[in-house]
Amino acid sequence: RRAGEVRIVEVGPRDGLQNESTSIPLETKMELLRRLARTGVRNIEAGSFVAPKWVPQMANSAEVLNHLLGRPPAAPAPIAYNFLVPNLKGLQNFLKASDTDDPPITSSEGPNQMRTPPPSPKAGERGETRKQGPITSTEDPNEMPPNTSGKDSRIQPDKSSRSSNSMEVSLFTAATEAFSKANTNCTIAESLERCRPIVALAKSRDIRVRGYVSVAMGCPYEGPDVSPAKVAEITATLLEMGADEVSVADTTGMGTAPKTQELLKALFGAGISAKDLALHFHDTYGQALVNAVVGLEQGIRTFDSSVGGLGGCPYSKGATGNVATEDLLHCLHSLGATTGVDVEKMAEIGRWISKELGRPNDSRAGKAILAR
Ligand code: HMG
Ligand code: MG
Repeated sequence: RRAGEVRIVEVGPRDGLQNESTSIPLETKMELLRRLARTGVRNIEAGSFVAPKWVPQMANSAEVLNHLLGRPPAAPAPIAYNFLVPNLKGLQNFLKASDTDDPPITSSEGPNQMRTPPPSPKAGERGETRKQGPITSTEDPNEMPPNTSGKDSRIQPDKSSRSSNSMEVSLFTAATEAFSKANTNCTIAESLERCRPIVALAKSRDIRVRGYVSVAMGCPYEGPDVSPAKVAEITATLLEMGADEVSVADTTGMGTAPKTQELLKALFGAGISAKDLALHFHDTYGQALVNAVVGLEQGIRTFDSSVGGLGGCPYSKGATGNVATEDLLHCLHSLGATTGVDVEKMAEIGRWISKELGRPNDSRAGKAILAR
């Protein structure tokens, strides 16, 4: 099967940064988003409206959203920016921050606490917000692109292809009870019930919704054997309630080629189509690219990755970052896939952000490309 077009969802600004131990200035996040926008990537996860006491790095996501709407980064093509919303409160905060009539929500960063599982579940929240259409923004023609190459890079975005960006949301659940409790403070069933009104409210505003199923190929608490049938059942439930796409996540990186094959077999066997799926690999065991190729061969055309291999999950001890976007691009392009993303620009961003964060650049391809 020809690879054709493959969609990359750049999750570095959210999944990548959420686990950093030192506080990241808003300006660094915005600069990362501006640089990413110029690579041609069409989907960027930009933040999350979660409890700041659990994930302090994401506490200023309302400000990030405000910036993206008020002064969108220049880009060669429209971008869908995505924000995680774990509950109705998260979606309401997202909607409030998106509503340009309202003053921006400011959030102070909480102390960097121990990320232990929250103590006890609470009843679900209810709430209403004002009717509002899809959230879009148009790129700022005056915004100058950052110079990431060291050469004169005052290349203006292609005006012909410039049109509205969009704002999307993602919700998340998990394939094991222990992870669900640690990450979202509720059971899988409660988490799915929590998702239902979020999807309904988002869809009523024409907001595209992504679902995540974490620990699909291994759990930090319950071990490597996660039931593919369970993952398929949860994925089907998210799609039935109206999610536009579900990203099946190997949070711990325990996935292997045979496990990926087995999982996809279960998903397809449950009547789920490849076009409704994305794969989200963390590279803890170095298997992410192999698993991505298995996914590609099985018809998956959307993959999540993070520039420089940034990240980890606060609820998955020892898990390293997502597969590096540069590595994934290098692999996909070698297989004849088109992504529309400039791998050299991505490599430069990987080097830049790693330096900003004082961490090693985890992209093998990125380092090799820069050394050429
Ligand atoms: P909860 O059930 O209310 O209970 O929240 P809680 O004890 O965990 O938190 C309670 C506190 O959070 C209260 O504040 C709430 O008001 C507040 P307090 O009274 O203590 O001051 N709160 C919120 N604040 C801001 N925005 C909100 C919100 N909701 C409650 N939306 C909840 C449950 C899940 C919301 C909470 O535990 C939480 O936000 N946890 C963080 C989860 C998270 O961000 N995980 C990482 C992202 S998921 C991920 O990385 C996996 C993924 O990459 C795929 C993969 O690789 O697996 C997507
Ligand atoms: Mg992740």
